[in-house]
Amino acid sequence: MFHIDVKDISTDILVLDEQHAKIINIMEDLKASVSNYHYENVETLLNSLHEVSQAHFKDEEAYMLSIGYPELEEHIIEHRKLEEKAKKLREDFKAGQPVLMSIIAFLSRDWLRQHVKESDMKYVGFQKQGAK
Ligand SMILES: [Fe+2]
Ligand SMILES: [Fe+2]
Repeated sequence: MFHIDVKDISTDILVLDEQHAKIINIMEDLKASVSNYHYENVETLLNSLHEVSQAHFKDEEAYMLSIGYPELEEHIIEHRKLEEKAKKLREDFKAGQPVLMSIIAFLSRDWLRQHVKESDMKYVGFQKQGAK
């Protein structure tokens, strides 16, 4: 488990919350597959994560644009960096490199802790301030 409390990552936007939940589910499945040595599932899960996150980043970027979020550019750069790193790890895994622990660390630290819990919550904070 990644120990993410949904209350800590609520965006108040249904579609974004559902996408975050989906992304976290896939990540949990990935972590469980690695822990249980079910490596045959890893490639499929990495592909699912890629598809779901592409849709999520697109929707999140459109949402941030719609609320006039001032840190949109920086946020978009973070999304591209996450995509690039995920792509590299996926390719390395397919090429037979021993990257499973790097994948788990990347999901836990870079993606969930640094991006979802911190960067995503910044646009939520901005939106809430403006709504007051
Ligand atoms: Fe997000
Ligand atoms: Fe984001």
